This record gives sequence, C-alpha cells and structure tokens, in this order.
Amino acid sequence: MSSADKLKQQAAIKAANMVKSGDLVGIGTGSTVNFFIEHLAHRIKTEGMHITGVSTSWSSTLICQKHNILLQDLGQTSFLDIAVDGADEIDPQLNLIKGRGAAHLMEKIVATLAQKFVIIADESKLVPQLGQNFAVPLELLPCALGLVESRIQKLGGDFTVRQGLRKDGPVISDSGNLIADAKFPNIENPATLSDKLQNIPGLLEHGMFIGLAHKAIVAKKDSIVEL
Ligand code: 5RP
Repeated sequence: MSSADKLKQQAAIKAANMVKSGDLVGIGTGSTVNFFIEHLAHRIKTEGMHITGVSTSWSSTLICQKHNILLQDLGQTSFLDIAVDGADEIDPQLNLIKGRGAAHLMEKIVATLAQKFVIIADESKLVPQLGQNFAVPLELLPCALGLVESRIQKLGGDFTVRQGLRKDGPVISDSGNLIADAKFPNIENPATLSDKLQNIPGLLEHGMFIGLAHKAIVAKKDSIVEL
C-alpha cells in the first residue's frame, strides 16, 4: 500500500469508529471513503454493529453491496446521523472543493442531510485557499452548456467539459448530467463564488462545499489531527 493510502486508511478508520450502532450513515465517494466502507464492514462483522448506509454514487453502492452493507435510497432519506466523505481541497475554515469523482451533487445532498458531516483525508488535501490545486467541478443539464460556459467565463473561470478516460466523449454523472470543471485563478471569497454559481440556471450543482463540514480528520505522516 502506498504511503498516501496508509494515511487515507488511518483517517478512514478513525471516522468509522465514530459511527454508532443504529446510525443512518451517509457514505461519500472516493479512495479514502473506500477504506471507510471497509472498516465499517469490519465492525459490522466483528462487533455485530447494525447500521444503514445511504450511498452517494454507483461506485460506493457497489463496494457496500460487496460488503453486504444495508443501503437505503437517498431519495427516501430526510435525516442522517452522520455522513463521512473525502475532499479534494480543505481550507482553514473547513470549506471544501469536492467532485473529482463527479459525485458532488449527491455528496452535497448527503452532507446537507447529516447531523454530523465528517471529512477524511490525508494531509495533501489541506490548502490555504480553495482553488489552489483543483478546478471547481460542475454538474449541469446538457441544454445549459452554452449558458453555463459563458457565465463561468464572465466570472473569470476557465471552463472545460470533463472528458471520459476509458470512454470517448464527456463524463456523464450517475444522474445522467454533464460534468465540467471551472478553474478560477484566485478564489478569494469562496462563499461569494458559491452563491454566484448557485444562481446560474441549469447548473445543477457545483463542488464548493461552504460551511457544511463539522469536522475534518486529517492523517499526517506522524499524527492524525482533527480540525
Ligand atoms: C468524489 C469526491 C471525493 O470525495 C474526492 O475527490 C476525494 O477523493 P479521494 O478520497 O479519492 O482523494 O469528491 O466526487
């Protein structure tokens, strides 16, 4: 296992140990969350813990199914005891960029439903200011492509439709929409940019998570810190 994966696993185990029997658990998406799912499954098997998961993607659903974790449909969910997810960037106020895996629409619904939204990450995800390493992922209706592209450019962003890696053409989300990315040279005020993006018709969701995370568990080379 790579040293980055070891750190991701440490953060994930700590979060999985915060889950209590009987909890309704929001399950994010990504390589760090995969370790979280594995440790949840381990606790279910070894401790007889009972939980119900609510998944944010096909990716996480398939891994939960492999581990026989009981799942409830997101559309039937109006409350979660806890949700655990990874992030691409975490700023000092716990604002996030998410959506490298194109799951940010369902991830934001789950984060908003959760009484406690916990981020798990290795230290490479900590940034002084959002937008340093990642573009802001977007999920949009195909018919809004022209509008969204021109509004992003007016806001000073560089807009690209995300391309599939082992498929020709654009990435289509689990909900059947287009995925694009908006790279901003400098995000000085994440909340203001988030509001402006929220107001673009046909832009279903963007990957800035402002004021949603209650805690971040970040594994560093010699310690695990809770922010
Ligand atoms: C998927 C996400 C992921 O949570 C984020 O990209 C972090 O992934 P990883 O744990 O693999 O670094 O937002 O849409």
